[in-house]
Amino acid sequence: MSAGARSGTLEEGQVRAMFDRIAGPYDLMNSVMTAGLHHRWRERAADLARVGPGSRALDVATGTGDLAIELASRGAEVVGSDFSEGMLDVARRKSPPTPALTWEQGNALALPYPDASFDAATVGFGARNFSDLPQWLREMARVVRPGGRVVVLEITTPQNPPLSTFFSLWFDRIVPLMGRFDDAYTYLPASVKRFPGPEALAGELVAAGCKDVGWILTAGGIIAIHHGRVPS
Ligand SMILES: C[S@@+](CC[C@H](N)C(=O)[O-])C[C@H]1O[C@@H](n2cnc3c(N)ncnc32)[C@H](O)[C@@H]1O
Repeated sequence: MSAGARSGTLEEGQVRAMFDRIAGPYDLMNSVMTAGLHHRWRERAADLARVGPGSRALDVATGTGDLAIELASRGAEVVGSDFSEGMLDVARRKSPPTPALTWEQGNALALPYPDASFDAATVGFGARNFSDLPQWLREMARVVRPGGRVVVLEITTPQNPPLSTFFSLWFDRIVPLMGRFDDAYTYLPASVKRFPGPEALAGELVAAGCKDVGWILTAGGIIAIHHGRVPS
């Protein structure tokens, strides 16, 4: 097991290789680990992106594409972007056959899109993996038009019992057992622990230039959905 996986900090190449490796079972593991609740959390994130027919959204670190597909189901034109071709392959295979959805390779820290080219940008469970949070958020704010929305869906560490007790049992004892099979499950809880809490992440959105920043906590405080507006 690598020291990077234990500390929740892997280099970009290692993160990409890890997701290429686990792309096949990723959706199944997601459903098992969240008891299928992740679909509901994505719906709430998509609500906060406020997109619909006539709008254009970017889902950064789209992975196997569930959040992008949810955004497209609201009538928006959506680009799902990720640097792992393995994850994008799964997204392409399960994508509904619609020209409204496109899948493109790209790095969240240097998005290959012009300024103000989307009405909203979202990230689901990707932010923990980025090596430079301020740079990623500046990129999100740059590619969204003035008045558009930035939405971040991420696991967070609950502060109050009983969820904090359950979370610690699940993340500190059960998930690391799966780390015997793949480093990814050692990296997952470690990366959640080192990720900024809701207030600090909101501060990062403000520092990147977002206005009206807020967040909702759901699933007993395990999931945080941050949202902000790019100023006019
Ligand atoms: C935990 S998965 C989340 C996937 C998906 N958004 C979801 O909600 O299930 C994290 C994704 O972030 C991608 N990723 C990590 N760092 C990235 C970067 N710098 N640029 C683009 N994608 C990145 C990984 O390839 C992986 O697909």
